[in-house]
Amino acid sequence: MPFFDRPVEKPEELFDREKEFESLKRAVDRYAMTIVVGFRRVGKTSLIKAATIDMPRIYVDVRKFEVLQYITYDMFLDELRKSLSNFLSFDKRIAEYLNVVKGLKVFGIEVELSQGRSRPLFTSILESLDRWARDRGVKLVFIIDEAQELIKLKGYSIIQAIAYAYDNLRNITFLFAGSKIGLLYRFLKIHDPSSPLYGRYIERIELKPLTREKAIEFLRKGFEEHRIKVDEVFLETAVQKLGGIIGWLSYLGLKTLNRGETNLRIIDEVVEEASKIVINEFCNFINAMGSKRYIEIVRAVSSEGATWSQIKRYLELRLGVKIYDSELSRLLKNLIDNGYIEKTNELYTIPDPILKYSSKSIKC
Ligand SMILES: Nc1ncnc2c1ncn2[C@@H]1O[C@H](COP(=O)(O)OP(=O)(O)OP(=O)(O)O)[C@@H](O)[C@H]1O
Ligand SMILES: [Mg+2]
Repeated sequence: MPFFDRPVEKPEELFDREKEFESLKRAVDRYAMTIVVGFRRVGKTSLIKAATIDMPRIYVDVRKFEVLQYITYDMFLDELRKSLSNFLSFDKRIAEYLNVVKGLKVFGIEVELSQGRSRPLFTSILESLDRWARDRGVKLVFIIDEAQELIKLKGYSIIQAIAYAYDNLRNITFLFAGSKIGLLYRFLKIHDPSSPLYGRYIERIELKPLTREKAIEFLRKGFEEHRIKVDEVFLETAVQKLGGIIGWLSYLGLKTLNRGETNLRIIDEVVEEASKIVINEFCNFINAMGSKRYIEIVRAVSSEGATWSQIKRYLELRLGVKIYDSELSRLLKNLIDNGYIEKTNELYTIPDPILKYSSKSIKC
């Protein structure tokens, strides 16, 4: 199994994940809506792409909205426009169906959308895709990667459109991926009685980091394939420092291949580079949330983990002000919803080994 620097696209390139692969295929066949959740770089996009490779699919990636405080319907439409243009190459006849949508025109292999008042409705686009799928006798998978970012969409109820499709468009199945699990649920609002999606069944597939044994096997097989010799100490140290996060393990694999030798120093270099990336992402979150108190909480939780009262004491000591319980609850909830910390029993911990490692040195 070689190492890849991008999401894997083909089933035969996936290491492990047989169970999740089968579950996902079954889910898109059977249910109207499926979510794939898991930490950053755990392999969500790879699993989704590989499992839907033989299906007609629209793939919209909204990760780029992560750094923004809010997004408009036009911004979402523009991403959708690009995905629809890609989809046209699947079957030229799709154009006939899309051209029926008010505010949408297909020119050759490009989709163009009107702006302002005459821009198309998401619902109408979904209806036309559903009709195409019905006439072809196929199921269309509509994928939104990092879907939780759409929670920032202002001025258009995308959930309303999705709920309408859930109930009425039988030839479309939705597949949402998200690394900020709590936010994804907040976006879908399935537990909120006032939400259009309330009470709908959503199949959930969770991707976990590889176990220690599997992570070692992933590295060993990758190196074997490239005829690079590795010793057990290298493998053990790599997995101890990078955890079972397949994205970081692949990164180490590629870097080692590039050097042509295994050396424990490369692992530390990867940890340092990964830390920079993780801190940068965390700082984007801090900027979007507008409070540096989150940094102090992550420091308080740090490598050992901490309880509610330990975090509170640490914060009050560091900031020199009283922290109200309601505020601490809100801050902790946002950190959990964004996947930065976890709560098990009474202990808050940082699940990402890289963020854990760099928690003391975060500066935003
Ligand atoms: N099952 C797998 N087998 C081999 N390589 C994998 C597998 N899953 C992921 N990878 C590799 O790990 C890296 C991260 O994968 P991917 O982008 O799919 O993860 P992700 O969970 O979508 O990450 P992100 O949270 O950044 O979107 C990629 O380089 C990819 O090639
Ligand atoms: Mg991804």
